[in-house]
Amino acid sequence: MIINKKIEFKTKGITKISFSNEALSPCRQIYYNLRNSNFEPTDDIGIKHHDDSVKSDNEIKMRWFFAKSEAAIKLFRDVLDGCELSLSRSLTDVPYENMRVVQANIIEVRGSYPVGRWHSDMVDEKLSKNQSITLLTPLFTLENHIGGLETTSTPRNMFNYEENSIRHKYKDGEAIAFDGTATVHRTEKYEASDGDIRLLMCWQLADSSEEMIESLYRIGTRNGDPMFVGKHI
Ligand SMILES: [Fe+2]
Repeated sequence: MIINKKIEFKTKGITKISFSNEALSPCRQIYYNLRNSNFEPTDDIGIKHHDDSVKSDNEIKMRWFFAKSEAAIKLFRDVLDGCELSLSRSLTDVPYENMRVVQANIIEVRGSYPVGRWHSDMVDEKLSKNQSITLLTPLFTLENHIGGLETTSTPRNMFNYEENSIRHKYKDGEAIAFDGTATVHRTEKYEASDGDIRLLMCWQLADSSEEMIESLYRIGTRNGDPMFVGKHI
């Protein structure tokens, strides 16, 4: 099974992994705790708001609750290692030990989402294809009208992303794994009411071998979240 997933990931830059949805309970608890304390950042969880890089008439209510401490990243790593999502660490040729969760966050969108900006998540001159992964799954069941993920088979740095766009719905117990560097993607546009909350769990995995550390720190500085390059313990 993993061989097929690996081939799919390497040829298409994307694959899907089924896992037991209950494994996400500790991540859900983090969201409940944040909600109970009125979404105040803590020593473990930071909060980052949408940078308004997407133009829209309405304000985009998107924010990230990201791991800010060793304890927080350990919790998110343990969830991944404790279920079938650990397969993600074997999708590339990077040795399992070196393919580590370097960042993790809960992504929240309230209300509608406009036409998004195509982008790659992990960009650095030293980071190549098959060295990093973004892994996304719904934290809570999403209603049908809530948008999914749009990827494109057009290679990065080309212009016709739209033409080769593929839409993916988020399903409970299924994570979408795509190449963090090579796979260009965006949030699918959707209309929702102000009360609709879309919550996704996101893990960022990367080759954390010695020679990649500098590059990972550069990416962390750019995207504003701390990088955790140490071993999974
Ligand atoms: Fe992204």
